[in-house]
Amino acid sequence: MSNTKAPQDTCVLVTGGAGFIGSHTVVCLLEQGYQVVIVDDLSNASEKVLDRIDQIVGPEAAERLSFYRADVTDREALDCIFDAEPVDAVIHFAGFKAVGESVQKPIEYYSNNIGSTLTLVDAMREHGCKSIIFSSSATVYGDPDALPLTEESPKKPATNPYGWTKWMIEEILRSLVVADPEWDVVLLRYFNPIGAHPSGLMGEDPKGIPNNLLPYVAQVAVGRRDAVHVFGDDYDTPDGTGVRDYIHVMDLAAGHVAALAWMAGKTGCEVFNLGTGTGTSVLEIIKAFSAACGRELPYVIEPRRAGDVTANWADCAKAREMLGWEAQYDIADMCRDSWNWQSHNPNGYEG
Ligand code: UD1
Repeated sequence: MSNTKAPQDTCVLVTGGAGFIGSHTVVCLLEQGYQVVIVDDLSNASEKVLDRIDQIVGPEAAERLSFYRADVTDREALDCIFDAEPVDAVIHFAGFKAVGESVQKPIEYYSNNIGSTLTLVDAMREHGCKSIIFSSSATVYGDPDALPLTEESPKKPATNPYGWTKWMIEEILRSLVVADPEWDVVLLRYFNPIGAHPSGLMGEDPKGIPNNLLPYVAQVAVGRRDAVHVFGDDYDTPDGTGVRDYIHVMDLAAGHVAALAWMAGKTGCEVFNLGTGTGTSVLEIIKAFSAACGRELPYVIEPRRAGDVTANWADCAKAREMLGWEAQYDIADMCRDSWNWQSHNPNGYEG
């Protein structure tokens, strides 16, 4: 980013800033002194998040936050926002993210996720803002040949339209840098974000039946669902269940702030894994969450879920060396904070 201003003079536009990862990142940005503009259409987030953010950061920092309810595919709305706010950099979280739904609604997923990114970068270009951090995913590595995954590990074909949108948006942003070297792009490949703000005021609040493991486990813990469904116990892993690199959402949020500070004054495209470097199985997660909530959580073994990989975890050396960032929280912390959030908000933000 051509911007090398101090945080208090830097305005960061956060698309999807009311969502799970976005809201935690907004808190970190405000705590570091940044000016923050959230753009979110609230299609998969609650407006109540905004009050919770204010509560966590306090009135002085809350003054530096503005919110626009808008869809990132809405070019006119984006133009108005860029005209009104002195945006220096964008963190782009907004997008549809349900893997199963993406298989049923490929046109909606491609059109929304890719269309919004194209609209956003075109609006940015027109307003002279060429710095963007994109929410990518370890899903671009597909079924890995070797572990841990480094940023040099090959991208593999995605197994669903959601995964393809992450895959393709990475390439779109790379092309942008090739065509115009003034762009400054950071692709952050997240492993599995879980946990919640330690205050218990913010956390993951999926609509309907959770697709991902942790929110499902948390809902079993709070009595909203009967038992965890373990998708396969015949994988080639120590206990037969799938292994993932779970990362606390607060660590992930801090990773964005580290990337933002690092990219200031630079141009080009850089990719970083954001994980912990440690793999944890489904059964280990159930055990850790049981310890956190003080009750053995029931589970049933089910067949494998289509499209799931056996195991993945990150090599985190690049982010450590270049961004000076490293995950601080372990699985027990993640389950504790997730339980704290879920037990205080059994029905999420609406509860
Ligand atoms: C999933 C997506 C991935 C996306 C990520 C976003 C798939 C195939 N992949 O990752 O593209 O980037 O979410 O967070 O959906 N599991 C159960 N029972 C459950 C849910 C999950 O046993 O009810 C198991 C899975 O088989 C897997 C592990 O838990 O081994 C983690 O699953 P999940 O939380 O859905 O994340 P990923 O599949 O890794």
